[in-house]
Amino acid sequence: MYTGKTIFVKMKSRFIIYIAIILLGFTAIVSMSNYTGNVLKDNAQIISVLAKQRMLTQALAKDAYKISVLEETLSHSTDDLRSQEIVDQIAASKQLLQRNRDTYESVYTELLTGIVTTDSGDVFRVSHSTLKKIDPEIQNYILIWSSFRPSIDVILSSDSKESMDNALNYIDAENINLLNASEHILDTFESRMIEHYEIYQFILFILLFVTIAIAALLMYAMYDDQFKALNIFYSKFEKLGMGRLKHQTKSVNNFSEEVQMMVDGFSETLDLTEKINSNQSFSETLKYIFNSFNHYLPYTYIGIALLSDETPKTVIATYGIGQVQHTGLAEELLGYEAILEDTSLGQIMSLKEPRIINDVDSYFETRPVNQYSKIVMDFGIRSSVTLPLSANGMPLGFIFFSSDQKNVYEPHHIEFLKIISNSIALSFQKNIFMDELLYSSVLALAKLSEARDEDTGEHLIRMANYVELIANELKKEEKYETILTREYIDNLVKFSPMHDIGKVGIPDHILLKPAKLTFDEFEVMKTHTVYGANVLKEAENNINRRGRSLFTMGIEIALNHHEKFDGSGYPNGISGDAIPLSARIVAVADVFDALMSKRPYKEPFSFDETMKIILDGKGKHFDPMIVDALVRVFSKEKDLTPLNSLI
Ligand code: C2E
Ligand code: SIN
Ligand code: SIN
Ligand code: FE
Repeated sequence: MYTGKTIFVKMKSRFIIYIAIILLGFTAIVSMSNYTGNVLKDNAQIISVLAKQRMLTQALAKDAYKISVLEETLSHSTDDLRSQEIVDQIAASKQLLQRNRDTYESVYTELLTGIVTTDSGDVFRVSHSTLKKIDPEIQNYILIWSSFRPSIDVILSSDSKESMDNALNYIDAENINLLNASEHILDTFESRMIEHYEIYQFILFILLFVTIAIAALLMYAMYDDQFKALNIFYSKFEKLGMGRLKHQTKSVNNFSEEVQMMVDGFSETLDLTEKINSNQSFSETLKYIFNSFNHYLPYTYIGIALLSDETPKTVIATYGIGQVQHTGLAEELLGYEAILEDTSLGQIMSLKEPRIINDVDSYFETRPVNQYSKIVMDFGIRSSVTLPLSANGMPLGFIFFSSDQKNVYEPHHIEFLKIISNSIALSFQKNIFMDELLYSSVLALAKLSEARDEDTGEHLIRMANYVELIANELKKEEKYETILTREYIDNLVKFSPMHDIGKVGIPDHILLKPAKLTFDEFEVMKTHTVYGANVLKEAENNINRRGRSLFTMGIEIALNHHEKFDGSGYPNGISGDAIPLSARIVAVADVFDALMSKRPYKEPFSFDETMKIILDGKGKHFDPMIVDALVRVFSKEKDLTPLNSLI
């Protein structure tokens, strides 16, 4: 899975590589231009040397001429003093000519090797390619110089007037060629240097361009990387914070404020997720959601439908909670069962996408209205969001957020629900699973204890059926209309089989005694109430120590099912409505079934005998209204069809 950390480590190492590449490029540019600068500097020096040499060409001719003039003057001089002066001048000029000739020659011969030393002793190296280029000019120069140089030597030796005149004439005539040769070398060198300069400039330009291009590319890649990551981050964040944000005024433009708001929304959503997960039971989670989600989306009713494992899969409305305007809706819906494929919910589950119906009435104008939908509409639901719940890839069911207003659901509500749906599903799954596990293991224990003193082992099943029939009948009384909700009756059915679980602690010689119990024995027998309540308390504490009471009703039934309406029962001798309703109902069902059954200490009574004993106990042992309800159950079903299967 992708984690924030990996992407940042990846980005960091990429960043370092990018920076290294860019640095390398710029280092290449700097060294290249440095090298170019040095080469150009050397070339410029050599050019200045060559320019000086060219000037020396003229100096050579001038010096030679000066010497010949001085020689001429000397030959005509009569004044000894003056003659001596001229001789000195000739000697000085010859010395100068000699030096100029040597310097002149040396530079051009040095050019053959490519290493040039100036007068001041600096050494410059000429590149091979340049040498090659100026080679013809140098050869040409050597040719000219080889015929020019003897003339200078003649002047220097001052042989004869005739030979000196010839030499001077030659110098005069050929000086221009030598000058041209020098000039050519200089020109070639100069053009070569310009050529070089242009090549270097071109290479530098290309290098710079490539480096900048690479840098730009890498920068873009980096930008892309980081901003992609940031974008993902940002949009996830925004989704998380969305529910919160949409309820704020939209005046915020400032980026940092916006981020701050997202962070707030995010932490609030996290908080919500955590709270959902820390709720202890299925119905507590639902209540928590009902009380806290209105901050994020509008609703007046929340329902839950769970999937059953039967084939074909069915969906059962399991829980509902709503505001006053929907009073009775949950009651009507709970227990409603439909085959998943017959409903539109199958599609929602397979697509794993929530569905918004923003106008229930017009939605059903074009669709068949099933009984469920009719109830929902009759109770004032006008729009609804259906969210599929699945945990670890297992479909669990659906949660419905519904409102009495039309057109209240927007896509951002869905975004919020999607983010939170995993938590909702996991919380339910955990709770359903734990509740089921605990319930079924306790029920197994109850069955085990029951099997000791009961013949057929059917007592528990019959009990559950009796309490359901009695409760549904009793619900018609105004007094119990609101108390006996669907959930309450479900719990009654669930927990009534556990009423005698405390009998596990009663020794065989008492429990299985085939005769009437002594006073002391009965005192022990009575403890099965308190003991049973403790067994259940301990069972739920073992599973979960965080204070939720899964077995609340089971505990009150176990403890109070032998209390009597007139206060003469046990263990506490409480009376009337102080005895929990659940225990009062179970008391009637329990005695009814005990009387109709065989026990180690008694034979079964007939139905009429049983009813007589129950009616005798009305108002004394039993709550009169519950006895009446039992009577109505049986009198209504004159043919006793449901009872025949029960008794
Ligand atoms: P149980 O057998 O399940 O009976 C439950 C309740 O049904 C009894 O609660 C009592 O209210 C009623 N009941 C059962 N049999 C009769 C009966 O023959 N006549 C009348 N009028 N009511 C009856 P109770 O009395 O508090 O007893 C609780 C449990 O104690 C009984 O559960 C049973 O397990 C045990 N028990 C009660 N009496 C005797 C007895 O004489 N001998 C033995 N071995 N066990 C007894
Ligand atoms: C339900 O209670 O199961 C659903 C109610 C609804 O669709 O709004
Ligand atoms: C149902 O639970 O019966 C289906 C409701 C629906 O189709 O939306
Ligand atoms: Fe009992």
